[in-house]
Amino acid sequence: MTVHFIGAGPGAPDLLTLRGRDIIASCPVCLYAGSLVPQAILEHCPPNARIVNTASMDLDQIVAEIRRAHDAGQDVARLHSGDLSVWSAMGEQLRRLRAEGIPVSVTPGVPAFAAAAAALGAELTLPGLAQSVVLTRTPGRASSMPEGETLTNFAATGATLAIHLSIQNLAKVVDDLTPAYGADCPVAVVYRASWPDETILRGTLADIQDKLGDNIQRTALILVGPALKGEGFDESCLYAVDYDRRYRPQSADSPWASWSDDTEGQGTS
Ligand SMILES: C[S@@+](CC[C@H](N)C(=O)[O-])C[C@H]1O[C@@H](n2cnc3c(N)ncnc32)[C@H](O)[C@@H]1O
Repeated sequence: MTVHFIGAGPGAPDLLTLRGRDIIASCPVCLYAGSLVPQAILEHCPPNARIVNTASMDLDQIVAEIRRAHDAGQDVARLHSGDLSVWSAMGEQLRRLRAEGIPVSVTPGVPAFAAAAAALGAELTLPGLAQSVVLTRTPGRASSMPEGETLTNFAATGATLAIHLSIQNLAKVVDDLTPAYGADCPVAVVYRASWPDETILRGTLADIQDKLGDNIQRTALILVGPALKGEGFDESCLYAVDYDRRYRPQSADSPWASWSDDTEGQGTS
């Protein structure tokens, strides 16, 4: 018996990995975080599966549900939205299950920030503008932030910021970021990326609050940084005509000229 943690993706049911789909189909028990995991993904569960929405359960109740499946020798598919590596509450469940000697596996999913970038048609790491993406949030009712993980500190890097769980704190986000990024820095708010009601707002730190109004209260990502401009960046060296590299040696003297890679069939020797 194994508890399979599966990243269920940002919303669109087909943004689930094939591995995740197949594991769901093989598990007689499915626990899912109902606030964000789309119902359509549950259609992959086998007939007669026990399907439990954990949105209203506490950690003890969730572990009890898993223990019951463990005692019955039944595999469990445990679904959380997006990917499991960020804000999934997987960590506390893993700790409990490991303490009880219950085997686990982890299957990644498409994170919301990637779905939001796709909705925008944007690369978040444009050469010369930003080469880092910071996945962060602002403090919430239930979660404080470790000292040092402040927006002003992250803003000092100039990186692209993907700010989660914070749409209701937009005024503070704007206040904290404007000194470092400037009022004309581009901002995008993506609400429910990949869902049928996906909504995109584009603006700057100066006007994004007016554009947002009271319409969007939750399940939105705030993306901030110069890379959101989508212009004024350098081309990468990777595809430059004269860039000497493993897959495209530029001369017989190139260190890559005698390199071979049988698996790719790209060798030159
Ligand atoms: C509890 S976190 C879950 C993050 C998730 N584990 C991931 O990999 O993206 C929920 C927050 O992620 C963001 N989020 C999740 N799904 C989203 C979506 N489809 N579109 C935009 N933002 C989303 C919002 O900021 C939301 O408040």
